[in-house]
Parts: sequence; C-alpha cells; structure tokens
Amino acid sequence: MKVIAVYHNKGGVGKTTIVVNLAAALSKKGKRILVIDLDSQANATFATGLIKFEDEKDDDLKNANIQHVLEMEDKYFIHEVVRKSQFNTPEIDVVPSHIMLMEKENELSRNRQTELIFSHKLKSVENQYDFVLIDTSPALNLYTRVALTGADYLIIPSDLKPFANQVLANVKNFVKDNNIFRKLLNKRPIQVLGVLPSKIPLNSEFRQYTLPKRMENVRQNYGLPVMNTCISERSDLGACMESIIVTSDGAIPHPRSIFDYRGGNSRSVAEFEALADELLQKTGEL
Ligand SMILES: Nc1ncnc2c1ncn2[C@@H]1O[C@H](COP(=O)(O)OP(=O)(O)OP(=O)(O)O)[C@@H](O)[C@H]1O
Ligand SMILES: [Mg+2]
Repeated sequence: MKVIAVYHNKGGVGKTTIVVNLAAALSKKGKRILVIDLDSQANATFATGLIKFEDEKDDDLKNANIQHVLEMEDKYFIHEVVRKSQFNTPEIDVVPSHIMLMEKENELSRNRQTELIFSHKLKSVENQYDFVLIDTSPALNLYTRVALTGADYLIIPSDLKPFANQVLANVKNFVKDNNIFRKLLNKRPIQVLGVLPSKIPLNSEFRQYTLPKRMENVRQNYGLPVMNTCISERSDLGACMESIIVTSDGAIPHPRSIFDYRGGNSRSVAEFEALADELLQKTGEL
C-alpha cells in the first residue's frame, strides 16, 4: 500500500479535484483505492457524493468520520468509518471529513498521539488497498501534520502563479520539520514526487513562454521537482463535481469523477490517465 498526501499551503490550487480524479483514474486501472479527507471543509467528502443531506438533522456523517479515527486509539478503525462512494465506477472507499473537525483541532492537538494513531490505523488496512490518497487543507495545522506523517509520498499541486510559488518555501519548511518527526518514528523522509502543474490555462502563448519559466522557477529557486503531467484548466473538471440529478424530491447533488462524467472521452480524462501512469511509474508500480 502506497500512501500519497496531496498538499499545498495555497488554497484553491486544485488539491481536491486532483485527489478525487486521480483516485478514479487509479481505480479504473484496477487498483484498490482509499480516499481520506483530512480537510475540515470536507470538499473531498462532498466531491465523492457522501454529503447527501440538506438538513443537519439528517447528517449521517457526524458520528463516524475522520475525527473519530484520530481521536481514539482503540476504536473507530478505518474499516468502521469508511463509506462506499458511487461518484465513480468502480466505487471507491472514502473516509469522510466533517466540519466539526475545525473546532476539535485544539482538543486533538493536546493529545500527543494523534499523528501516531493515524499512522497506526493506516497500517491496519495495508493489505486492503493499493493506494491511499489524502486530501488536505491549505493550512499548516495538526491535520496536515497528520497527513504528512502518515504518507509515503507527497504531490504538491500548484497553479504556479507567483504567490503559489512563494509559499512553496513554507511547504518545504513544513516538510523538513515533519521529516525530523518521522525520523524519530523510524520512518523514512516523505518522498516528494513533485510540484504538479494544475489549473494551467490552455492559451498557447502562455504555455510556450510563461509556463516553462514558472516551472524553472520551481526547480531553481525552490529546489523541487516538477511532475511531467500537467492538469489544464477546463470547465468539465468543475462541472463533474457540481453535477446533479433530478428526483421526485427535487434536484440533489450527484458529483461524478471526470471519467464517469465524460465517459472516457475528454482531454481532462487523458491528463488524469497520464497522472496515474506517472504515479505508478514513480512509485515503482509499473
Ligand atoms: N483543472 C481545473 N480546471 C478548472 N477548474 C478547476 C481545476 N481544478 C480545480 N478547479 C476548480 O477550482 C476550484 C478549486 O479547486 P479545488 O477545490 O480542487 O482546490 P483546492 O486546492 O482543493 O482548494 P482548497 O485549498 O480550498 O481545499 C473549484 O471550483 C474547482 O472546480
Ligand atoms: Mg480542497
């Protein structure tokens, strides 16, 4: 089982979009996938169709979500909290997040074992999954520390805009500090697969002149590798997450992976297939 954290300290760069569609791409290739939502905004939980309620009294996630996994060492193991998501065929296992995670952070921070509990519980499902993909918030907080401690690999999605590049320094320091913690746990340093260009405009002049300079900036000034795949800015990647179905009760959210939304026929699909292949190759699975 390979555990991949998807993280950048800048918001809105496409982390959640990449987690759910990369999960879909890998599952279409026959891999057994677990998605874990470690962001209190719960966007991956929504994007995988697990937030079905409109009214809080119907909230069926509040009693079993990632918060419970982190809270207790001897209860709420991953297999007890995981949900089957139909946002993609084949269906994908997801550990949902919950907005309550936000107010729980202080309490969980006081518990010195939170990162260890998460890593320990991941270990207990190592024979059930080939890849675990962890969605994170753009913060430098307990939950991102938990993700970076549990993961073997890191993908850093970035729109490569100047501010995104500047905060790469924070990501590097955060990774460096976390690697000290990992060392004390006898874990190898997290392997940075690279900065993944994301939401990249299709404009041909931009691609020819600006994009190569921005990629070079990442390599030269931040010493980080840039991944070979590039996820372009395309409206279908937003639309598939916003899809709805109309029932007798009205319209309800029915998010789908780009693969199921487009039926395999789109450039976004081709890019996510390329990303899955690059991941398989870089993690020694090809
Ligand atoms: N490649 C893309 N092309 C077009 N729109 C995209 C693309 N990737 C993401 N988006 C859109 O950009 C917005 C932010 O994307 P997303 O939620 O994946 O980013 P994020 O990094 O997870 O954000 P946050 O930091 O808030 O968690 C969403 O509306 C999403 O639909
Ligand atoms: Mg997100």
